[in-house]
Amino acid sequence: MPLPKAELHLHIEGTLEPGLAFALAARNGLTLPYADTGELRRAYLFQDLQSFLDLYYELMAVLRTEDDFAELADAYLARAAAQGVRHAEIFFDPQAHTARGVPLATVVAGLTRALDAAPERHGVSTRLIMCFLRDLSAESAMETLEAARPHLDRITAVGLDSAEAGHPPAKFKEVYEAAAALGLRRVAHAGEEGPPSYIREALDVLGVERIDHGLRCLEDTELVDRLVRERTPLTLCPLSNVRLRAVDTLADHPLPRMMDAGLLCTVNSDDPAYFGGYVGDTFHAVREALDLGPERLRELARNSFLAAFLDDDEERRARLIAEVDAYDFATEDTATG
Ligand code: ADE
Ligand code: ZN
Repeated sequence: MPLPKAELHLHIEGTLEPGLAFALAARNGLTLPYADTGELRRAYLFQDLQSFLDLYYELMAVLRTEDDFAELADAYLARAAAQGVRHAEIFFDPQAHTARGVPLATVVAGLTRALDAAPERHGVSTRLIMCFLRDLSAESAMETLEAARPHLDRITAVGLDSAEAGHPPAKFKEVYEAAAALGLRRVAHAGEEGPPSYIREALDVLGVERIDHGLRCLEDTELVDRLVRERTPLTLCPLSNVRLRAVDTLADHPLPRMMDAGLLCTVNSDDPAYFGGYVGDTFHAVREALDLGPERLRELARNSFLAAFLDDDEERRARLIAEVDAYDFATEDTATG
């Protein structure tokens, strides 16, 4: 049995595996500019975040119907559950779909169909986090928030993603204020490629409760002290950091140093179809590359539930944390733990 864990940083569009991309393209009468899945996979050599995003936005053109989104989400939930995920907080990028003429209602209906079935089908509870694309305007983000009003009972939080450099969080101050007024929780990508000041801005101007990535906080010791003091969770994505060249190799990843510093770290997969593994694979990879012992892995799993938006189901949070505390690593399936 794999270690129980929550996944808190997962872009559903980043779970689009090459096989499903080709199947959906065929179903929707589209032709991908790649001969087959092998050629597509060979395109997964990224220089930085932007070079990944170019392919990520190109490939999601195959997602057109409610069924497509439901199939995508169900495939992710099945894989995640097999790797010990018991709770998943799932990002989606509405503007990347509405810009292609796919209505927000279609996206939400497809995703929620899969999410609604997930407790019974996969034993996974879920939350949905709607992300704004930070390289688009604040007006576009505000329009997206407005368009989401009929669906807010299904959306737990707002997030901020896409190209970070040159797009500081403060641009979205009013949008985040409006989201908070609507009762939404707030998170934002910061410090993936952007400087530590973006992390401060996300906290101070956007009022976020968690930082997605936050890797570059290490360049600012006062900021680290603050994140430790305020117990701000960081949703780290070590395989993503290697593939997008934020760190050279997994063995160079600062995760152990960050845990030693007292930061509330979680480990996540970001865009698993592109970065070489789902969250269980990620736990396995960091354990091997960074020589993390069982208690370190247990801490990461415990943190994932502590940082989850499970405030409306504290009983479930407590039960899942108890499972982590009681977990016997001798029963672990090392392929998926
Ligand atoms: N969208 C999908 N994956 C992302 C990442 N790693 N950073 C920013 N935006 C993203
Ligand atoms: Zn991300």
